[in-house]
Amino acid sequence: MPEPMELAYEERGSGPVLLFVHGFPFDRTMWIAQLAGLAKLRTAVAVDLRGSGLSNTNSGSDFSMDLFADDIAKTMDVIGADQADLAGLSMGGYVLFSFWRRHPDRVRSLIFIDTKAEADGDEAKAGREKTAELVAEKGLQPLYETLGPKVVGSSPSIEVQDKVKEMFLNTAPEVAAADSLAMRDRPDSTGDLGSITVPVLWMHGEEDTLMPIDGARASAGKIPGAHFVSIPKGGHVSPMENPDAVNAAIADFLKSQGN
Ligand code: MLT
Repeated sequence: MPEPMELAYEERGSGPVLLFVHGFPFDRTMWIAQLAGLAKLRTAVAVDLRGSGLSNTNSGSDFSMDLFADDIAKTMDVIGADQADLAGLSMGGYVLFSFWRRHPDRVRSLIFIDTKAEADGDEAKAGREKTAELVAEKGLQPLYETLGPKVVGSSPSIEVQDKVKEMFLNTAPEVAAADSLAMRDRPDSTGDLGSITVPVLWMHGEEDTLMPIDGARASAGKIPGAHFVSIPKGGHVSPMENPDAVNAAIADFLKSQGN
């Protein structure tokens, strides 16, 4: 596995660190509303995963959820955060499961958003390989045309649609290919659900068609004491589509921990 790297990040606020991990094929800018809205409670930090956004110094190869998790641990070292509340959307949630397995002592709480614990089945794995080939050959535009409309719920604003498009098209093809293969190879995390011992919030867009909410609710139900919040008017990028509801749920969750 390559050496962990220090990730590019953006931060707002002060106090204990609340760190956000983006999905695929996105970057730290998907969390603009969370950084603005939650900086009064925490040092809100949004990272760019290896290859994405401003962490694009690395060409995309040999990526894994474990490597992404180790990159985050290294970045926490740089920030001076022994522990953090960690929030991850979709692929970011897969990274959180790896982080929990590899660095449990550094986790204060986990916030899963529009994600799932299951590994890919055979068909999904084959789809990852097709995606990797497609983006390597033709760039991100064709992937955006098929996947972009499915990422949002039924009534996305123009701003959200534009932002989603911008992030897709800003992702380097070799990075999207490497991300896709890393997701193909991620382990199943369902066996870990019952042994998560930190506080957990799981939020899920009611209109998420890529990862239907019922499966998410079932997974959250296996985590001892987890809070589950469904986000109205949210598709697969609910923090962008309904930031008020997402920020309120995170704020309530953090306050319920007494810090
Ligand atoms: C994401 O938003 O990160 C992706 O939908 C995750 C996936 O393709 O499994």
